[in-house]
Amino acid sequence: MILVTGGCGYIGSHTCVELLSAGYEVTIMDNLCNSKAEVVGNIARITGKTPTFVEGDIRDAQLLDQLFARNTFRAVMHFAGLKSPGESMSQPARYYENNVQGSLALFQAMERHSVLQLVFSSTAAVYGNASALPIREDSPPQPPNPYGRSKHMVEQMLGDMVSANLAWHVSILRYFNPVGAHKSGLIGERPAGVPNNLMPYIAQVAAGERECLAIFGNDYPTPDGTGVRDYIHVVDLAAGHIKALEHLLKNAGVHIYNLGTGRGYSVMEMLRAFEQASGRNIPFSIQPRRAGDVAASYADPQKAERALGWKAIHGINEMCIDTWRWQQNIAATSV
Ligand code: UD1
Repeated sequence: MILVTGGCGYIGSHTCVELLSAGYEVTIMDNLCNSKAEVVGNIARITGKTPTFVEGDIRDAQLLDQLFARNTFRAVMHFAGLKSPGESMSQPARYYENNVQGSLALFQAMERHSVLQLVFSSTAAVYGNASALPIREDSPPQPPNPYGRSKHMVEQMLGDMVSANLAWHVSILRYFNPVGAHKSGLIGERPAGVPNNLMPYIAQVAAGERECLAIFGNDYPTPDGTGVRDYIHVVDLAAGHIKALEHLLKNAGVHIYNLGTGRGYSVMEMLRAFEQASGRNIPFSIQPRRAGDVAASYADPQKAERALGWKAIHGINEMCIDTWRWQQNIAATSV
């Protein structure tokens, strides 16, 4: 049995599908602050297997104790957390409470119950404005906002906990830009309010829900002047978690991996690819740069390939087609 915190969320739900399909049993713990319980049913529809669902918060030590006492978990996959860099600037304490204090409560419960196998959801945001591309795992961390700092603090905590107790088996996964959705169209990203991220915004413009994409800057030192990112299909990302889990069950210590494709695409390239996938015209306007954005960011994914035997296989076309299918499904079900 694997405990998945935040298993109803975007990346967590896709990882639950991969876990169940690989034959693992799954217990999801989620406080539903940014997701819906109906995701559990959709995971079951996709896989034919129903995960156990516990509604609750990782900061609730008593609930964690109950859960660990009643189950024998082989490992924990920890996705639960807040993830908006912009929001973290205006509500830093909330980010540190959920992401740092919450993670600490979970790790302490794991220690109390001797479950010392963990996959931790981190982010390429820990790199900030990296000095060299592609970004390797040893690139010095310089997270530019409380969100990135909260994730980096948890990484450091884990490093210290592993140094003090060599029985821990920990895998830290730094995600680049997750996009796409499951092929079934049953699970995907459901941003609340106006999307901050590029892909959901583009999808909503293509669907006619928003008028026009604001492109934040076309004067970057990139081939077409718009920002370049390493977009990775969420199903590839989820598959990376299974590989990381299998590896950590056999290897102690703490291991950090980038999960990205190693290939960057510009905002303009993404827009054109999405137009092709959707058959829709996507109006855009060029706006000033967004504060805190970097010109280009993409991973060196070789460490994960070497150590885990994992590599992203979905291309930009599938990322757009799958996002578009999901977008149409949420539009149809929210009428
Ligand atoms: C953002 C976060 C990052 C987080 C990542 C994954 C910021 C500054 N960074 O990264 O910490 O880890 O999401 O969720 O918020 N763009 C537009 N118009 C839009 C939206 C985006 O032109 O309406 C451009 C951006 O300028 C950027 C690219 O699209 O060049 C990707 O943006 P986004 O999807 O927000 O991801 P990141 O900025 O890479």
